[in-house]
Amino acid sequence: MLKLGIIGTNWITEQFIQAALATGNYELTTVYSRHQEKAQALADKYQASETFTEIDRFFAEGQFEVVYIASPNSLHFQQAKLAIAADKHVIVEKPAFSNPTEMANITALLSNKPNLFLFEAARHVHEPNFKAVQTAIQQLDKVQGAVLTYMKYSSRYDQFLAGKEPNIFSPRFSGGALQDLGVYVVYDAVSWFGVPKALNYYASLLPNGVDGRGTAILRYADFDVTLIIGKNATSYLPSEIYGLHETLSLDDNAADLQTVTLHQGDKTTVLSTPPLDNPMIPEAADYYRIITENDRDAAAAAGQLSRQVNQVLYDLRRSAGIVFAADIEEQK
Ligand SMILES: NC(=O)c1ccc[n+]([C@@H]2O[C@H](COP(=O)([O-])OP(=O)(O)OC[C@H]3O[C@@H](n4cnc5c(N)ncnc54)[C@H](OP(=O)(O)O)[C@@H]3O)[C@@H](O)[C@H]2O)c1
Repeated sequence: MLKLGIIGTNWITEQFIQAALATGNYELTTVYSRHQEKAQALADKYQASETFTEIDRFFAEGQFEVVYIASPNSLHFQQAKLAIAADKHVIVEKPAFSNPTEMANITALLSNKPNLFLFEAARHVHEPNFKAVQTAIQQLDKVQGAVLTYMKYSSRYDQFLAGKEPNIFSPRFSGGALQDLGVYVVYDAVSWFGVPKALNYYASLLPNGVDGRGTAILRYADFDVTLIIGKNATSYLPSEIYGLHETLSLDDNAADLQTVTLHQGDKTTVLSTPPLDNPMIPEAADYYRIITENDRDAAAAAGQLSRQVNQVLYDLRRSAGIVFAADIEEQK
């Protein structure tokens, strides 16, 4: 049983707590929130014994072994640093860190703590349908290209239009469509096709400089992959991966793989299985297994993928002229 502490009290934290508990391998012991009433409400709901409203005390005194960090993106870095200093394993929500400098900093800290594990919570790569796509791609004679979509209107865009700046649309909090939803399709592309040789992101920028929507082109030796992402409009296009005589069709977006279909001329074969109600269960199970079996190879592979995705996200962002406060911090 792993003792779990959490940072963040939005719906995604509850989804992760429920997934972790559903595996039967975690107990929630410790809740951090800036607000005592929010921390206590979650603690009561999931029988956690400790609550904290000061982050330093949470790490210094909390009796947990692994922390799940689901705070605004730009806060992940400082909170992960505190976790590593306090000898806690880390599960940090995607996108793990704002830029390669932060990522390198964390990698260096971890190299001095060889017993610790850190995972970027790229939920979908742990799901069976993601692996079904990966296997199907390996069986294609030749990859000819792909179009991967994840564009979904965010209710927080209503707030943005009303003159507010929710964290997810803020450069101060490392927000925008690429960071929030693009990270999933970048994970897809890098996992399935590798690191691109060249790239560009044609972003529709909001007045504060973050991207509301955009199209990225990733160039590989023999083909291109197009990423269609956004948070201020909704796409109903399925994603597609092209072979010579086959096409893989992914519904309903490239991160929530409900149905994966292989088209071969007139023949269609469904390769997917119905996803679990709580899509975070496979990742929670994987993190537990890797930590308790001390599976260094699996952790190293996940870490390498996370660093590659971080670099691709950064390069895409820079190609579109998107700058975060965290990038300016790194230059000081
Ligand atoms: N894997 C997935 O499917 C998935 C889905 C959604 C989100 N996410 C990721 O989860 C993370 C959180 O996303 P979110 O939409 O929940 O973010 P959010 O609502 O902006 O913030 C999450 C939590 O962080 C705390 N917080 C908010 N603003 C803060 C501030 N200015 N300073 C310090 N703490 C603050 C709040 O907790 P307290 O008020 O209790 O302190 C809040 O509940 C992001 O990295 C996002 O990408 C992942």
